[in-house]
Amino acid sequence: MATALADAVLPLVSLERESSGPLPIIQVSNKLREQAALARSPFVVYVLRRGDVARLLHDPRLRGPGLDILRLQGITDGPLYDSTAEVLLFMEGEDHHRLRGLVARTFTPKAIDRLRPMMRASFAERIDEVAAAGRCDAVPDLCERYPIDVICALLGAPADDWPLFSRWAEGILRSLAFDIGDHRPYIEQCLAEINDYIDELVERKRREPGADILSDLIAVEEQGDRLTPSELRAVARVILVAGSDTTRNQLALSLHTFATHPDQWQLLQADPSLAPRAVEETMRYIAATGGLARVALEDVEVAGVVIPAGTMVVLDTVSANHDPSAIDRPDIVDLTRDVPPGYHHLTFGGGVHYCLGASLARAELQEALAICAERMPDLALDGEPTWKPNLGIFGPASLPLRWSVR
Ligand code: HEM
Repeated sequence: MATALADAVLPLVSLERESSGPLPIIQVSNKLREQAALARSPFVVYVLRRGDVARLLHDPRLRGPGLDILRLQGITDGPLYDSTAEVLLFMEGEDHHRLRGLVARTFTPKAIDRLRPMMRASFAERIDEVAAAGRCDAVPDLCERYPIDVICALLGAPADDWPLFSRWAEGILRSLAFDIGDHRPYIEQCLAEINDYIDELVERKRREPGADILSDLIAVEEQGDRLTPSELRAVARVILVAGSDTTRNQLALSLHTFATHPDQWQLLQADPSLAPRAVEETMRYIAATGGLARVALEDVEVAGVVIPAGTMVVLDTVSANHDPSAIDRPDIVDLTRDVPPGYHHLTFGGGVHYCLGASLARAELQEALAICAERMPDLALDGEPTWKPNLGIFGPASLPLRWSVR
């Protein structure tokens, strides 16, 4: 007999979870998961076990919360509402399937591999600026610009326009917060600017297609179906917003993991072919996207508890990635670990909304970590990092690093 959520005795998620570094977050997740399969805060239920998280990622009775976040703040129409409704992550059913299908056809291994030389050149520029000093704050100095450079190249926009994209990404990301309030005019201005910019870029690409994903998106066609101008704008926006803050925070988290696990850094330095493993293991150890928000559309039973329709649910991927029922010694960072057959971390999500940019993000992180391993021997913390709140996309606010200059 299942228990109603209101009657279930569940551990409470404490505020400590919201404002600390990776280790305390992992420890708190572990403690909660050892007590129960679910935890709760006043408005949210957290799903903690790997099996439940993986299953619910595929469950159509849960959907993304984008429009609910706006509605709860009284925003039910206008450019911000309309543009959020066009975000792939917040679309469902046939509309999502169709748009994702068309876009996914352009995210080919070939399209990603052709960007690798550009990734190496962009990241090497960042390293060149700080290498001789032997120290830097990795957040502004190494991580901030890199993913934006890659997205400019991906869309075929001039590299010099990266500050515009950076501003738009930051502005539009404000629409996913619970304190939109006074930010709304600024967010809508950013939306109008990027839409105009993409329209112009699309016109140029129609005349002169390039070796970029925007040109591929314009040309993509399946059984006579093509992307409309409004869909092209929406796809460019989602690529920018989904691909920038995630990647820069995950890169910073991976660097923090290595700075605090010098034996693993030495392994990567000695064998750069471990870069793909370095990416997977550090993404498993600590995820920039550690809580995937959903809203239950119907009553959903999880571990004997009925979560009622309308409840906000967080699929806790940090906890799931540290669940010992799925992987041995989950709290150890080990690039050489034997990964069980079929195992993969859940940092890129799963199911129909599985990260569309996962291969691109992997390539970006692999290239960046390989360059760091070569250029930053004896990597270590150069003081205490500070941390963003563990809400939405998590990572350091500042990450002082030092290394040996030879
Ligand atoms: C390390 C970097 C990244 C991480 C950790 C990450 C993580 C995720 C996660 C967890 C989701 C699913 C969210 C959910 O189910 O609630 C997602 C979706 C998505 N990601 Fe990423 N992402 C990264 C980089 C990128 C990049 C570089 C791009 C594109 C250039 C991208 C594009 C997208 C898109 C378009 C979706 C929505 C897919 C859909 O709803 O069908 N991501 N990402």
